[in-house]
Amino acid sequence: MHKDVQEVLVSEEMILKKCKELGKQITEDYSKKGENPLLVALLKGSIPFLSDLMKEIDIDNLKFDVMAVSSYDGAKSLGDIKINLDLAYSLKGVSVLLVEDIVDTGVTLAAVKNMLYNKGAKDVKIVTLLDKPGGRKSDVYAEYIGFSIKNEFVIGYGLDYNQSYRNLPYVGVLKKSLYE
Ligand code: IMP
Repeated sequence: MHKDVQEVLVSEEMILKKCKELGKQITEDYSKKGENPLLVALLKGSIPFLSDLMKEIDIDNLKFDVMAVSSYDGAKSLGDIKINLDLAYSLKGVSVLLVEDIVDTGVTLAAVKNMLYNKGAKDVKIVTLLDKPGGRKSDVYAEYIGFSIKNEFVIGYGLDYNQSYRNLPYVGVLKKSLYE
């Protein structure tokens, strides 16, 4: 275990098993509707999850795209986001499955969901590896959730603290002494 990690919350083995379960469910749900979702991952934290999850989705011509957003500095409205990297695909009539690492306040995701509908998406659903229901400040929810966790700051498997720890293969709680 990394010296800065207080506790491993979700092991690599648990994550890969969950990706199989979520992938199977997503495959079934979209196949039933005869839809081919466009996976949209929010950079950078969602990359490891996108990579493992997409291998478990058995749908022909499955495509993915990425986008990067950030909050405006000093924004008055919490949901005010800036697009740093936009999608390459047109979303007209497309079913989007947003791939997220973690939903905390849900404010970013609510704004992104809204924006994707404004770009013409037919449907926007969310799959998140982690959910922190205790942190919620918007009414956004994910249709597919890997693990529901306590309101603690976690790192690893894409999640960072000051851009570090993204390469850890598990999700762990960061020692509080490092940021308090
Ligand atoms: P929110 O749901 O709009 O509050 O923001 C979600 C984003 O905040 C995630 O995509 C992460 O980048 C970041 N985030 C929220 N909680 C954590 C955490 O515990 N560790 C690392 N990043 C986090």
